[in-house]
Amino acid sequence: MDTSTNALGGNPAGLRALQECASINVGQYPSTYGDGLREELAKLYGLKRDNFVVGNGSDEALDVIMKTFMEPGETVITAHPAYVLHSFFVKINGGRTATVDLDEDFQLDVDSILSAKGKLVLICTPNNPTSNTFRQEDVRALVEGSNRPVVVDEAYGEYTGSSFLPLVDRYDNLIVTRTFSKAYGLAGMRVGYLAASEGMAEAMQKVKIPYSLNLVGERVAIAALRDREFLERSVRVVNEERPYLMKGLEDLGFKVFPSEANYIMFRPDMPSDLLTAKLSDRGVLVRDFGKVRMLENCMRTTIGTREMNSVLLERMREVLGECL
Ligand SMILES: Cc1ncc(COP(=O)(O)O)c(C=O)c1O
Repeated sequence: MDTSTNALGGNPAGLRALQECASINVGQYPSTYGDGLREELAKLYGLKRDNFVVGNGSDEALDVIMKTFMEPGETVITAHPAYVLHSFFVKINGGRTATVDLDEDFQLDVDSILSAKGKLVLICTPNNPTSNTFRQEDVRALVEGSNRPVVVDEAYGEYTGSSFLPLVDRYDNLIVTRTFSKAYGLAGMRVGYLAASEGMAEAMQKVKIPYSLNLVGERVAIAALRDREFLERSVRVVNEERPYLMKGLEDLGFKVFPSEANYIMFRPDMPSDLLTAKLSDRGVLVRDFGKVRMLENCMRTTIGTREMNSVLLERMREVLGECL
């Protein structure tokens, strides 16, 4: 429960497509830019194929964004706390991050971001690891408030009712990244995408490694995209289980933060690294963020199935009892 992947397991339609792939000719290259998947995404969102760039996980999309819009030595504005790999992709492309702290409710400090100097802005909503979404008007203010690209990482977007993706046609400085790794249950296939205005998408397509989305990954992702039932069930289970797990954590005396994603951040009374280690000894993996500034002693768990959540709470109870 430490990677915020789909607790229901692998995508069934994707797995069926994977089995059918046994008969394809893997001696041939896939389409250079994953056009089959781009067409499907265009249909789903009512946009054009040329609004999309697809690749090897949304991590590749983030990397391509840096390569396209940032030169070595330039600065990218990120929020803190945020997804750890945001600063990683800036760094490996020779850039520097200027981080702007979230406020005490883990919401964006819009004025500070707008006045910060930097080539582009990179945020994720729902935010990882804090598990809340940002106010829509704040994200919109960031996009409308300057001409530089604003990247909205929506890796967990399917779990919320809203998305900025349909707006990429309206704002030519908005880039939205999404993934098949979470609600679609395909983390192992490594498929992700970004959406942007056709002009920006074309610029990024030129920078991206051709064929980075392989033949099998593309077919499996298309099958998963067409199967809305699994996606809807995945989101429903998270929404049904979230109150149960939150209450269970609260009953253990932990501070539980608001969640709109498939994970929850919480702060136990005992040292978070010790609790994480003791849970791991009992076969339950959660993530410790206790050493991160502003998340002192905090932990994050994926929202699992009822069985997973019950085991997690039970093991926590055992550990707490042991430490009394
Ligand atoms: C906020 C966020 N963005 C992007 C990613 C990367 O996802 P992918 O598996 O598509 O590379 C993750 C994965 O955990 C994430 O939490």
